[in-house]
Amino acid sequence: MSQALRIGVAGLGTVGGGVLALLSKHRDLVSQRAGRALDVVAVSARDRAKDRGLDLTRTAWHDDPVALARDPAVEVVVELMGGSDGPAKALVEAALAAGKPVVTANKALIAHHGAALARLAEQHATTFAYEAAVAGGIPIIKMLREGLAANGFSRVYGILNGTCNYILTTMRETGREFADVLADAQKLGYAEADPAFDVDGVDAAHKLAILAALAFGSEVAFDKVMVEGIRQISALDIAYAAELGLRIKLIGLAQLVDGALEQRVSPVLVPLQAPIATVEGVFNAVVAEGDFVGTVMAEGRGAGAGPTASAVVADLIDIARGRALPPFAVPAGQLRRLPAQPVEARRGAYYLRLTVVDRPGVIADIAATLRDEDISMESMLQRGRDPEAVVPVVITTHDTTEGALRRALKRIEVLQAVVEPPCALRIESF
Ligand code: NAP
Ligand code: HSE
Repeated sequence: MSQALRIGVAGLGTVGGGVLALLSKHRDLVSQRAGRALDVVAVSARDRAKDRGLDLTRTAWHDDPVALARDPAVEVVVELMGGSDGPAKALVEAALAAGKPVVTANKALIAHHGAALARLAEQHATTFAYEAAVAGGIPIIKMLREGLAANGFSRVYGILNGTCNYILTTMRETGREFADVLADAQKLGYAEADPAFDVDGVDAAHKLAILAALAFGSEVAFDKVMVEGIRQISALDIAYAAELGLRIKLIGLAQLVDGALEQRVSPVLVPLQAPIATVEGVFNAVVAEGDFVGTVMAEGRGAGAGPTASAVVADLIDIARGRALPPFAVPAGQLRRLPAQPVEARRGAYYLRLTVVDRPGVIADIAATLRDEDISMESMLQRGRDPEAVVPVVITTHDTTEGALRRALKRIEVLQAVVEPPCALRIESF
């Protein structure tokens, strides 16, 4: 067997700890598959005194992660600290500039600097690998870049944030409140250091921008992703969705429309029969629509120490074997800059929940506003009768444009009888 591959790991938290545990537990199996042993020879984290349950007695320690990249004993750098800039970016740039392959799980870094890092890797004839950055343990990067490489893609979408899927699933199953369930997800190690990244949709948007770049051969364009999170989703919406035969999921979707790239992350309603509707808890799923293969869905655990370590070590095995492809499937210089498709142009159905005063004529006023925008109602639900109080009214529409819906909502929300901002959600027909 060849000489061991000497690895430096920066970040020993949930994922870093998982990587070291996997490499220790599967030392023989990984060596066989990599054709050589994978040895962690150096590490970096903030707090050297922290008990991590890891034996680091024979491993060099660097307080400064950039020093780990410069350590002559380190051949490959694994970045598991997180953050789109700061030490993570400095470490990755230093390693690539030194011609050392980099493996990272850091989707924020790639979403912001993916094209530049791919160019840097190319300039220095080295590898930039990031399987763990999207959908945790699901080998979606390999799937798009290798297994489905012969296809033109029309659309890629998925459940890309385990924390949100866990929260939405648990809220539906238990009726518990959003904040309470979020605390569980944090304890389980699913959430980002700042959980606002999860619940406000930013983490899913980072991953979507990466998938879109791979699928459509374009530069990562995170700043062009339309992002909405799940904070406004109430137990009431979850219950109404069930009554309508629908389920609420935070979905990231990228598609080409007349040569323009539409990228959006938002809670949407999907039919219960759609395969993606049954993806629950911390599980993620990615669906790719290829012109020759048709529709392919991959499902698995999208977060947590084990699944993420599985993806990081898969990248290390590729590097040990000398397998390398351009980070975004085509050479960095050939990545396109696609125009952004505005969300107002989306055509589809919508769910509206309005909180209204229960008196005659209110529905007629709302219906007139929809009629004026040429929006046709598909169904309407109103429960209870209480002239003294307010009641929820739920409307689903036939296909319309988002622009028309937004204009109608502007007029609806200022009607005297409408007492709260309307909740509007897209319905997808996956
Ligand atoms: P984490 O548990 O917060 O661990 C972060 C680690 O980085 C800690 O060991 C920390 O040191 C170290 N660190 C932070 N700043 C540092 C600095 N300036 N210098 C040296 N070390 C520093 O984070 P995580 O959940 O493992 O996530 C790591 C990366 O993986 C992130 O990019 C995240 O987005 C990504 N990711 C996470 C998951 C998941 O399920 N958690 C899944 C996929 C991808 P101390 O321990 O000393 O504080
Ligand atoms: N916080 C992320 C999630 C971790 O919940 O999916 C995996 O990227």
